[in-house]
Amino acid sequence: MNIHNKFTTIIIIILTLSIFTTLTTSFPHFFPNISSIPPSLIPNTTSGAWDSFNKLSGCRPGQKLEGIAKLKNYFHYFGYIGNFTGNFTDDFDDVLESAVKNYQRNFNLNATGELDESTVKQILKPRCGVPDIVNGSSTMNSGKAASIEGTVAHYSFFPGRPQWPPRRRNLTYAFEPQNQLSTDVKLVFANAFARWSEWTPLTFTETSNYRASDLKIGFYSGDHGDGEPFDGVLGTLAHAFAPPAGLLHLDIDETWIINDVMASGSSSAMDLESVAVHEIGHLLGLGHSSVENAIMFPTISSGVRKVELDRDDVEGIQVLYGTNPDGNGTTGPSFGEREVNGGTRGILGLVQVLFLAIGLILYVF
Ligand SMILES: *[C@@H]1O[C@H](CO)[C@@H](O)[C@H](O)[C@H]1NC(C)=O
Ligand SMILES: *[C@@H]1O[C@H](CO)[C@@H](O)[C@H](O)[C@H]1NC(C)=O
Ligand SMILES: *[C@@H]1O[C@H](CO)[C@@H](O)[C@H](O)[C@H]1NC(C)=O
Ligand SMILES: *[C@@H]1O[C@H](CO)[C@@H](O)[C@H](O)[C@H]1NC(C)=O
Ligand SMILES: *[C@@H]1O[C@H](CO)[C@@H](O)[C@H](O)[C@H]1NC(C)=O
Ligand SMILES: *[C@@H]1O[C@H](CO)[C@@H](O)[C@H](O)[C@H]1NC(C)=O
Ligand SMILES: *[C@@H]1O[C@H](CO)[C@@H](O)[C@H](O)[C@H]1NC(C)=O
Ligand SMILES: *[C@@H]1O[C@H](CO)[C@@H](O)[C@H](O)[C@H]1NC(C)=O
Ligand SMILES: [Zn+2]
Ligand SMILES: [Zn+2]
Repeated sequence: MNIHNKFTTIIIIILTLSIFTTLTTSFPHFFPNISSIPPSLIPNTTSGAWDSFNKLSGCRPGQKLEGIAKLKNYFHYFGYIGNFTGNFTDDFDDVLESAVKNYQRNFNLNATGELDESTVKQILKPRCGVPDIVNGSSTMNSGKAASIEGTVAHYSFFPGRPQWPPRRRNLTYAFEPQNQLSTDVKLVFANAFARWSEWTPLTFTETSNYRASDLKIGFYSGDHGDGEPFDGVLGTLAHAFAPPAGLLHLDIDETWIINDVMASGSSSAMDLESVAVHEIGHLLGLGHSSVENAIMFPTISSGVRKVELDRDDVEGIQVLYGTNPDGNGTTGPSFGEREVNGGTRGILGLVQVLFLAIGLILYVF
């Protein structure tokens, strides 16, 4: 073997290794639809991050039960228990009771303060990692008074109402280069952005300059450096930061479906566009809403596709940015069901990347 051949072999080994390292460490799973997921890759739906809360069903104030401490952590994480230092106990105390009541108000449940079946069912649903109550200032339902007309606005903003300043209406977005997302996956985000630009003066343009982009989108696993670690399958799905941070993070461990999530009823498959539309709302300054049909409602079940802005979302975003000057929405939005179908194939993009890389190596040497 001459020097040149040795060199070629080494380069091929290094490239192969680096491709596979990238695949195993930072490449999310995407599937066009539920039937295309290999059974071995379908996580047990009984292994979701919060399944242990099931056994707390029926629990009342005054009781002590193993697992209550973990539930207090849950409520602490989402802003229902504030000011805490130290470890939580397994006592169903006043603090937890008041947290449960606020939670029930926000999610349109009877505010009993007890962990009844419908409350536990709601708690278990996969959701956004952004808190419902930020810094003790109440958003969503709890603490909201009816307006003069008798209607209640349910959309909310982050404390201090952060928003993109008037000179920044044309925003750029980019994808975490390490994720190596296919064009099919990028198209999902383009569609999600379009749902917000339709009703506002904002425009969104993809750029390949990740560092300089206004909005940065990436898939990450577990602790990824911003103090908000992801929790594996289900549990929290994604989170995004208020303006002008521009960070949108998704949990790499979810089974993301980029087309046709409704083909199956029972599984842990999550619809990527539904979650993307919600998180973009946060990037623009919206908090959570208690309107169940609103995009900004905090939870979404697996197998569900919800991508249309609700009137509540549009009213909220237009408080921040006004209407789309090019739009025809002066008579108010009609919020019908619109389903978009296209033959997208995420996994094929990955195969193409591999073949391109191999082709390049063969060509160079
Ligand atoms: C799922 O996707 C695969 C691959 O794109 C396709 O062959 C199959 O027909 C799809 N199944 C359904 C139910 O849409
Ligand atoms: C799902 O659960 C079953 C039984 O508990 C187990 O045998 C199987 O290995 C699990 N599958 C995965 C992907 O964890
Ligand atoms: C909290 O719990 C951890 C582990 O269970 C323990 O190491 C730590 O000392 C506890 N802290 C307090 C303030 O009780
Ligand atoms: C709330 O309470 C009423 C009356 O007790 C009951 O009819 C209703 O089903 C309850 N709603 C929920 C979501 O539990
Ligand atoms: C929460 O309050 C603290 C202290 O008042 C402040 O430093 C922090 O910036 C606030 N966080 C948000 C998100 O408003
Ligand atoms: C935190 O503690 C301060 C003073 O102890 C209190 O005024 C404030 O309401 C508390 N905030 C929450 C969210 O409990
Ligand atoms: C955004 O771009 C459009 C043209 O595409 C331009 O008319 C508009 O002035 C720009 N807005 C800002 C705030 O730069
Ligand atoms: C307004 O736009 C929608 C699509 O966004 C279109 O279906 C509708 O015909 C338009 N209406 C008018 C009056 O142009
Ligand atoms: Zn959210
Ligand atoms: Zn993050």
